[in-house]
Amino acid sequence: MTWQATVLTLFPGMFPGPLGTALAGRAMERGLWSLEARDIRDASTDRNRRVDDTPFGGGAGMVLRPDVVDAACAAAIPEGDARPLVFLTPRGAPLRQSLVRDLASGPGAVLLCGRYEGVDQRVVEARGMIEVSIGDYVLSGGELAAMVLLDACVRLLPGVMGAAESAEEESFSENLLEYPHYTRPAEWQGLRVPDVLLSGHHAEVARWRRAQSEAVTHERRPDLLTSKQRRDPAPRAPLH
Ligand code: ADE
Repeated sequence: MTWQATVLTLFPGMFPGPLGTALAGRAMERGLWSLEARDIRDASTDRNRRVDDTPFGGGAGMVLRPDVVDAACAAAIPEGDARPLVFLTPRGAPLRQSLVRDLASGPGAVLLCGRYEGVDQRVVEARGMIEVSIGDYVLSGGELAAMVLLDACVRLLPGVMGAAESAEEESFSENLLEYPHYTRPAEWQGLRVPDVLLSGHHAEVARWRRAQSEAVTHERRPDLLTSKQRRDPAPRAPLH
């Protein structure tokens, strides 16, 4: 079954953009997923195709009208469509690999991209949208955030990644950052690859990688660790 993505945006010309190339693009050509970008403006009934208005309570910027966004959702989502509706907004809950996994294992997703100051909150709630942020910074709209979310989902779809790109051991499969990687040459500009990796000793390699993962996670992302892991750190390997 094809995983179906529908994006509601004021800038449908931004899609597929980078999702039409590389891993995601090849997967799309192979029919493993589909992408439909729909113009929110097509749902406006206004003579001038207006989609926004000034915020009640005052302040800068414009807000997307709830009737227009609702009509755009209704036009995009057929009866019985079970796909979750995700609204990309810096107000959202931080995007995590757990949500990516959930979305990728379902039938697809409908993504609403905000622009201007935001979207009238009533339609966000009435439609049961999941509000998601891709990080603590403000983009000029949700489109790039939607692409980030789709890229993360598509690579997990069955058949998208070959053995060479396996997602099994990567960062966040266990709430740990990944260990560092090395390839030939074994010495480059006087810098040697850690000896253990050349030893052929699989158990020791696994131990070293685990220690590296824990050390780099302690250093850079202690928030990913449980309080127990934070309290008794594994024997600290020097960070590579
Ligand atoms: N729209 C603007 N900034 C955003 C962000 N950080 N995440 C998701 N959507 C956004």
